[in-house]
Amino acid sequence: MSEYLFQVQQVSKSFHVATADVPVLKNITFDIKREDFVVIFGPSGCGKSTLLHTMLGLEEPSSGKVLFLDKNLYNGVTEDERSDFRKQHAGMVYQQPNWIRSLTVQENVAFPLQLLGEDKSVALEKAKQALEMVEMLEWSAYIPTELSSGQQQRVALARALVTNPEVIIADEPTGNLDYESGQELMQLLTSLNKKARKTIVMVTHDLEYLRFAKTAVRMFNGQIVGVYDEKDQNKLMNEIKGKRGNGDFEHQAKPEKLEPSKNIQP
Ligand SMILES: Nc1ncnc2c1ncn2[C@@H]1O[C@H](COP(=O)(O)OP(=O)(O)OP(=O)(O)O)[C@@H](O)[C@H]1O
Ligand SMILES: [Mg+2]
Repeated sequence: MSEYLFQVQQVSKSFHVATADVPVLKNITFDIKREDFVVIFGPSGCGKSTLLHTMLGLEEPSSGKVLFLDKNLYNGVTEDERSDFRKQHAGMVYQQPNWIRSLTVQENVAFPLQLLGEDKSVALEKAKQALEMVEMLEWSAYIPTELSSGQQQRVALARALVTNPEVIIADEPTGNLDYESGQELMQLLTSLNKKARKTIVMVTHDLEYLRFAKTAVRMFNGQIVGVYDEKDQNKLMNEIKGKRGNGDFEHQAKPEKLEPSKNIQP
C-alpha cells in the first residue's frame, strides 16, 4: 500500500464548447498523502471542481493519469467500477446538500450504506455513530431541511463518513454558511483529520480557510501554481496579505512570480 491516496500525473482536460476545445486543466501533476488536510484554492472558474471530479473518477481527463489508492481510474476500468470504488473509498460534501425529503436525518445518513448493500438496521446503527461524530445525534429524527444550514452541513458530513471512507472530499462546504458555522465546520474537519485520521481534500475560493490546511494547493487558470506545506504557511499568508492590500488578490495573482515549494509542474 503506497503512502499516497491520490497521484495526479500530467492531467489535462478540455471541454468541447460550440466549435472549440476549451482547456480547463493544463498538465496538472501533484500527490496527496494519507492523513493530509489539503485545501485547494483559487479564483472562480480556475478548474478546482473539475480537478476534484477527475480525481474521483467522475470526469475522464483528456490526457494524463489519476491513481486513487493505487488504482489507475481510467485505464481498463468501467464507469460502474469507478462509481463503486468512489462510494467505498470517498465521502463527499458539497456546498448545497441534497436530501431525500421523505427521510429523517438518520435515514438520510444511513442511505449510502444501504446503496452498498448494507442491512437497514445495521445501516441505521452506523448512521447513529456517524451522527455522534459530528455532534448531531440528538437531531436524528428531524427532517434535514428543518435544520439550519450549518447543522445540515454537519449531517452531510456524517453522511460522507458513514461508509468509513479513507478520504473526505469537500467542494466549497462552507459556501452557504455564515462565519461562525463555517469556522465550526472547519474545526470539525480538523478534528476528523487529527483524531479519526481521515484525509481531507477541500476546495474553496475563500482564503480565510487556508489556515486550517496542512497543505495548501494554489490553482490559477487551470494550473497548480503553488503547493505550500505547514512551514510555508506564513509566507503564503504574507503573500496574500500583500496582494490584498493592493486590491483584488484573486485577479492580480501572477502565477509565474510565485515560488512553489515542491512538486510543481509548469
Ligand atoms: N461540463 C463542462 N462543459 C464545459 N465547460 C465546463 C464544464 N465544466 C466546467 N467547465 C468550465 O471549466 C472552467 C472551470 O470550471 P470549474 O467548475 O472547475 O471551476 P471552479 O474553480 O470550481 O469554480 P468555482 O469556484 O466557481 O466553483 C469554467 O470555465 C467552466 O465554465
Ligand atoms: Mg467549483
